[in-house]
Amino acid sequence: MVQSTSWFLSLALAHFALAGSSSYIARSLQYHEARSSMPSGFTSLGPASPDQTLKLRFALSQTDPEGLISALYDVSDPASPNYGKHLSKVETERFVVPKPAAVNAVNAWLREHNISGTASSPAGDWISFQLPVSQANELFSANFNTFKDSRAGIDVVRTMAYALPPELQGHVDFVHPTVSFATPASGHKSVHVKRTLVDATKRDNVPAACVNGTTPTCLQYVYKIPATPAVHKDNQLGVTGRQGGIAGYSFLETFLETLRPDIDPSTNFTVIGIDGGSNNNSLPGVSEGNLDIQYTVGIATGVPVVYVFVGEQNQDGEYDGWLDEVNYLLAQENPPQVMTSSWGAYEESQYSQPVTERLCQAYAQLGARGVSLLVASLDEGVGCSPANITNFEATFPSNCPYVTSVGGTINYDPEEGWFASSGGFTNYFPTPDYQKSAVSAWLEKYGSQNAGRYNASGRGFPDISALASGYPIYEGFWFDEAGTSAASPVVASMLALVNDRLESAGKPPLGWLNPLLYSEKGIAALTDIVSGNSSITCTEDDQSPRGFDAVPGWDPVTGLGTPSFDKLLELAGL
Ligand SMILES: *[C@@H]1O[C@H](CO)[C@@H](O)[C@H](O)[C@H]1NC(C)=O
Ligand SMILES: *[C@@H]1O[C@H](CO)[C@@H](O)[C@H](O)[C@H]1NC(C)=O
Ligand SMILES: *[C@@H]1O[C@H](CO)[C@@H](O)[C@H](O)[C@H]1NC(C)=O
Ligand SMILES: *[C@@H]1O[C@H](CO)[C@@H](O)[C@H](O)[C@H]1NC(C)=O
Ligand SMILES: *[C@@H]1O[C@H](CO)[C@@H](O)[C@H](O)[C@H]1NC(C)=O
Ligand SMILES: *[C@@H]1O[C@H](CO)[C@@H](O)[C@H](O)[C@H]1NC(C)=O
Ligand SMILES: *[C@@H]1O[C@H](CO)[C@@H](O)[C@H](O)[C@H]1NC(C)=O
Repeated sequence: MVQSTSWFLSLALAHFALAGSSSYIARSLQYHEARSSMPSGFTSLGPASPDQTLKLRFALSQTDPEGLISALYDVSDPASPNYGKHLSKVETERFVVPKPAAVNAVNAWLREHNISGTASSPAGDWISFQLPVSQANELFSANFNTFKDSRAGIDVVRTMAYALPPELQGHVDFVHPTVSFATPASGHKSVHVKRTLVDATKRDNVPAACVNGTTPTCLQYVYKIPATPAVHKDNQLGVTGRQGGIAGYSFLETFLETLRPDIDPSTNFTVIGIDGGSNNNSLPGVSEGNLDIQYTVGIATGVPVVYVFVGEQNQDGEYDGWLDEVNYLLAQENPPQVMTSSWGAYEESQYSQPVTERLCQAYAQLGARGVSLLVASLDEGVGCSPANITNFEATFPSNCPYVTSVGGTINYDPEEGWFASSGGFTNYFPTPDYQKSAVSAWLEKYGSQNAGRYNASGRGFPDISALASGYPIYEGFWFDEAGTSAASPVVASMLALVNDRLESAGKPPLGWLNPLLYSEKGIAALTDIVSGNSSITCTEDDQSPRGFDAVPGWDPVTGLGTPSFDKLLELAGL
């Protein structure tokens, strides 16, 4: 699955890419990766200082990446005799350990250049090393520049193109960070969504359980979620935290006291800090952390919640945070059986394809080990990427076929597609088999809407959805939150409660869900959302709404529909 691309750049582009290093221009270089333009929001401040230390990583060529994907399907497809027979850490790593020849080539090359490398993933398929900019420019025929990221207000060092030394070709899939320009992770607070977040409780047909908004009581009613506590302490629910996503301990206590008076208000969560991250309650936060924690601890009654909080110590741009998080999880013998993440980014304007594929493949490793990875589809409708306002742009990590992407709904009876629910089609991954029939049914009937603005042969997302509007959260005061950021924690909480019962029945956890969800039984277990749309406007200048409709069957607003706990239990064979 992981392929590295090589191509020749035209002279004009080479000149642009390597401006300032005239000695390279005459050479006919075969670049390993290159980008033709900077993403919008970035400006070059000129060549990086030659002495500046760069932290780079090699993605080594793996032993059997296709074997990993076969193994993932083998344990996740309900039609397979090995369904639920998840792989251990060691069994999974066998597929992704680097080829011995790759290890030898990289070690010899590092020695030759007096650079020390360290394995930075449990399987050793990533090697980290440091070197000065001058040496990196020379060894990779690169031109590392300092770029200002005006949105994040930070400087990053990147190159527009680089070549792999001949000794490393075939052994190293790519070097990172080089041509990927990602801004630091964004939570659900979208700067592009201009429509006001409508208060769901001001609508018609509000059930009595939802008069105070999309509270735990309301969610328990709408999705039939039990209030009875889970019993197994080794059945965990992991929540991704990012810099700024502080979750307040005392806020949670007040939240539980008020909205879950039936449980102990001192019910707590544990924190795992990565890259210097800590859920330091003395620091100011954005509401993402409180939302994610209040609607996991408050919904997954009795399930131990682990807040996996990624700091920025090891990061030069956002990607390294994703990488360090997944490598942390892969290093655990028993990672949380369900993970939810409400953070993400635009696919193409921020990440190169090989880089995205490698991370997606790490998610496949978690899936093979029985982890359900849920991610918010984000709150940008069909995408308002500053890079190209004409075409729609998919979001990461929802573009990865091995995660379950959760979109959003609004209203209770019936639920309708939420106007900012991100969805569409990726340019980076082809439509996976499990969703081919659902997606082609949509394409056939509704695909002419926005034709040409999306990639009809890409993976479609989201896969499922849940309420994304009217969530009261507490952070010293009460206010209503909206977003797929709320939907993903709720679905994750439901799955964690199902896993608790599976464990009681002596059965394995749900693991990677998609083949099950898109099976005939899976589709029947979800509530199809058939009205509403994801039509948002993007900028002050462009006021024409763009989006898709929620329609019968799978659609790129609400996926297959919303879950109901009783039907999930049945689907899980309970
Ligand atoms: C290799 O690096 C070490 C430590 O960085 C330095 O002391 C040594 O002189 C270097 N050797 C060569 C041959 O560059
Ligand atoms: C709504 O809030 C009021 C005031 O806190 C409370 O008395 C009532 O039980 C709540 N109703 C529901 C359905 O949550
Ligand atoms: C929850 O855990 C944190 C960190 O250990 C602690 O500071 C806080 O007091 C705990 N909250 C309660 C209600 O026990
Ligand atoms: C938390 O942040 C405060 C304010 O910056 C700082 O003084 C304190 O040392 C931090 N605590 C930890 C444990 O890092
Ligand atoms: C945006 O996409 C359209 C349609 O593919 C294309 O014609 C246009 O050149 C793109 N604009 C930019 C700035 O990439
Ligand atoms: C559309 O998706 C397919 C399948 O992933 C891919 O091969 C193709 O390059 C994509 N098209 C564009 C314009 O990116
Ligand atoms: C999308 O839904 C809104 C109501 O939420 C409606 O006003 C609008 O007309 C719909 N747009 C399209 C293109 O169907």
